[in-house]
Amino acid sequence: MKYLIETFGCQMNECDSLVLAGILEQNGWQKSGNLDEADLVLINTCCVRQSAENRILGHIGSLKRLKKFKPQMIIAVCGCLTQKEGAEELFRTKYCHVDLLLGTFSQGLIAEYAEQIRQSRQKIFDTEERYDDNDLCRLYHSLPSNLSSYKAQISIIYGCNNFCSYCIVPYVRGKERSREPQLIIDEIKQLAQRGCVEIELLGQNVNSYGHDLNGWSFAKLLKEVAKIDGIERIRYMTSHPRDFTDELLEVIAAEKKICKHFHLPVQSGCDRILKLMNRGYTAEKYLLLLDDIRKASPKCAITSDLIVGFPGESERDFQATLDFLQTAKLDAAYTFLYSVRTGTPAAIMADQVEESTKKARLNRLMELQNPLSLAANQNMVGNIELILIDGPSKNNPDFFCGRTDNNKLVNFPKTNFQAGQFATMQICDAKTWNLLAKPINS
Ligand code: SAH
Ligand code: SF4
Ligand code: F3S
Repeated sequence: MKYLIETFGCQMNECDSLVLAGILEQNGWQKSGNLDEADLVLINTCCVRQSAENRILGHIGSLKRLKKFKPQMIIAVCGCLTQKEGAEELFRTKYCHVDLLLGTFSQGLIAEYAEQIRQSRQKIFDTEERYDDNDLCRLYHSLPSNLSSYKAQISIIYGCNNFCSYCIVPYVRGKERSREPQLIIDEIKQLAQRGCVEIELLGQNVNSYGHDLNGWSFAKLLKEVAKIDGIERIRYMTSHPRDFTDELLEVIAAEKKICKHFHLPVQSGCDRILKLMNRGYTAEKYLLLLDDIRKASPKCAITSDLIVGFPGESERDFQATLDFLQTAKLDAAYTFLYSVRTGTPAAIMADQVEESTKKARLNRLMELQNPLSLAANQNMVGNIELILIDGPSKNNPDFFCGRTDNNKLVNFPKTNFQAGQFATMQICDAKTWNLLAKPINS
């Protein structure tokens, strides 16, 4: 029996998909490369913005035709969209070709449910919110046998307790729960033995790791992971600016293996909007944190996420965000149009911003940030950097690409290097989104 998983959304979903693949393989399923030969298609979904939701629902809709030709094929939907209010109703009525709705709390049951459906041909919809042994958070992640990559991602904490007023994640992913440190460490050791040199620790807010465990914190976990032989680089995503402790700053600065890239979503540079967003910090506090980070780790890069057009955002509020960006001098900013998520507090706030105004603001924001990103990259020209090679560049067949410690994308002329090798290079040119380098013979 063959399975195919299609993944949408963030890295947490990518990671869950690998775990789901591991569970299926343990139960005798084999990975398939195409829809036509798969006996089980699992769509791992995202609903963080309406645009993502529309795209995924369109894709699920398009599988209806395939199901007509292959009625035995199991079509399964998992991930955040399954957990949205009204999802069961939607999939029962409008997407009746879906056999299995596997909620985010039931993903550990994938193999059991697939087998039940194969035998009984009855639909299973399980989106109950529960925190038991079937929660991926508790499971030992047996990774697919063919996974032997030089870099890997691993979830350390599931769910989110922050309830930022615009965000649907806490409703669909549930309460924050840290994975047992020993599980995480064992999994990383297993990965290291398979040749993994870079590990990325994932969570909606990794900084709160351990608050529900006895005697653990994210800083402590980082220190333990750094002790694992073979792991050369440690990354993590995402950090909430409010929870960045001095201890964490020190651990990151002191440990060579921990990459000096800080992804710190700020969302807005205007205090009034930050308050409405329930983010728990002011623009000034965030800027002070940037100062502390840069003092402790001078070679760092800092990136951020921003939302434009949050309800009630006036021209003046938006201008505050522009002024903030000018001061913050971020290495890059990922920008999103505010998207109404039904059920969140912001969805019913007064003064929703017009779509055209949001788009115009997004453009203005990028026009300001792009030259700042370029300037940050230009600052690195001349530097000697250790690059972890990813392989051929996507856009230019004559080039290879890799990443610096601070996570900058670097292109360099094609060489004999293999993906997963480290090479010392000199940065010779900078663009807005990447750097150009040449290998140094050493
Ligand atoms: N947990 C992370 C990221 C969660 S989602 C954090 O706290 O930063 C990734 C990004 O999507 C967020 O940083 C935010 O910028 C954006 N986002 C979340 N909800 C959104 C919404 N309703 N509309 C537009 N962007 C949103
Ligand atoms: Fe959403 Fe805020 Fe949680 Fe991030 S911290 S997932 S933005 S609620
Ligand atoms: Fe999307 Fe869920 Fe991630 S809503 S961004 S896939 S946590």
